[in-house]
Amino acid sequence: MNDKQIPSHAFSSSDTAINLLGGRPDCPFMPVFGAPQVMFERGQGTQLWDVNGKRYLDFLCGIAVTSLGHAHPVVAAAIAHQANTLLHVSNFFANPVATQTAIMVDKLLGGGGQVFFCNSGAEANEAGFKLARKFGGRGRHVVVSALGSFHGRTLAALAATGQPAKHEPFAPMPEGFRHVVFNDLDSLVAALDPTVAAVLLETVQGEGGVIPASVEYLQAVRKICTERGILLMIDEVQTGFARTGKWFGFQHAGIDPDVVMLAKAMGNGMPIGALWAKKEVASVFEPGDHGSTFSGTALATAAARATMQLMIDMDAPTVATRRGAELTAKLRTIDAVIEVRGRGLLLAAELRPELDAKKVATQLLEQGLVVNGVTSHALRFAPPLTVSTAEIDEAIEILKKVLG
Ligand SMILES: Cc1ncc(COP(=O)(O)O)c(C=O)c1O
Repeated sequence: MNDKQIPSHAFSSSDTAINLLGGRPDCPFMPVFGAPQVMFERGQGTQLWDVNGKRYLDFLCGIAVTSLGHAHPVVAAAIAHQANTLLHVSNFFANPVATQTAIMVDKLLGGGGQVFFCNSGAEANEAGFKLARKFGGRGRHVVVSALGSFHGRTLAALAATGQPAKHEPFAPMPEGFRHVVFNDLDSLVAALDPTVAAVLLETVQGEGGVIPASVEYLQAVRKICTERGILLMIDEVQTGFARTGKWFGFQHAGIDPDVVMLAKAMGNGMPIGALWAKKEVASVFEPGDHGSTFSGTALATAAARATMQLMIDMDAPTVATRRGAELTAKLRTIDAVIEVRGRGLLLAAELRPELDAKKVATQLLEQGLVVNGVTSHALRFAPPLTVSTAEIDEAIEILKKVLG
């Protein structure tokens, strides 16, 4: 990015540290992310402020992460308290916060399982692949996932990600990953042979364009996996913790997965992820099979415990359903929006084909609304579950202004 490409509202020119951003040769970050357009300094609920004091409405939540809004006082207090009590002791020892948090996660998922804590969605998937391989045994190690899926950026998570263009620069990919057409049962059945240990699916393909898996598809996949002794692993990294109007996206189909991957909203911004598996599956792991220095730190799990308790207290799935219906109905009143899809508060608005979603997202940002262009013609909306009617109305006004 050169000086001319930096939007005029972007950075205060007097701040040298800020001017290091934007892909300049002296930028301190590796160029793996696109050049940032705004530098945010502060947040409160649905609102964000940039370094110049300009206010924005955050309808993206760091991609479905800060579901209780920015700077939630209870989560902040839990983090501060834990930081003053105990941060970390290693996995040679237990700590009460991680233990209570694991029990909460298991309860939310219906019970009967065990948890491995990690720090991100990709790590939750990595742990899941190792579990599937150990469970399947030698010769039965393949993970089948869907085209259009996204499962993370580490090598194995990337191999599971059904987007061949993302594999190409890093070939060869790790062996043992196979892709099928999403929402197409015949395609899945054709891919199942005795080498398959697990099927891995998102219940809504978030990065793929906010495409829900149909209820019938998920139910049929569950049935086939059960018949063939194949693990059904559900990646709830983006859809988990009430985002779709149920605690977890798979609950829309009334199925019970064998393995679930979690992250994003779990700590309302504190980095934490988890792999959950039914006890009979989790029990194939033995000491030394997997681990992570930061697995289940007291600090991260304190944030997750507070986040989950707040979500339980507010009945987050009901709130997400109500607010999701409200946002959907209001998005449908915009002429340039030809379709609204998704579940709960994970939504995409498909724009008229002549509109470039990435350009529209930049214009919206300039007008103070944070969303992202999830495909060439669709905007993704993932506001906090705590979003108010007044904030939804304000966002719709901005959208109408920008989309004419
Ligand atoms: C469904 C899904 N799985 C996994 C990931 C990877 O998570 P992380 O970026 O925390 O590694 C993402 C991130 O967007 C995701 O949406």
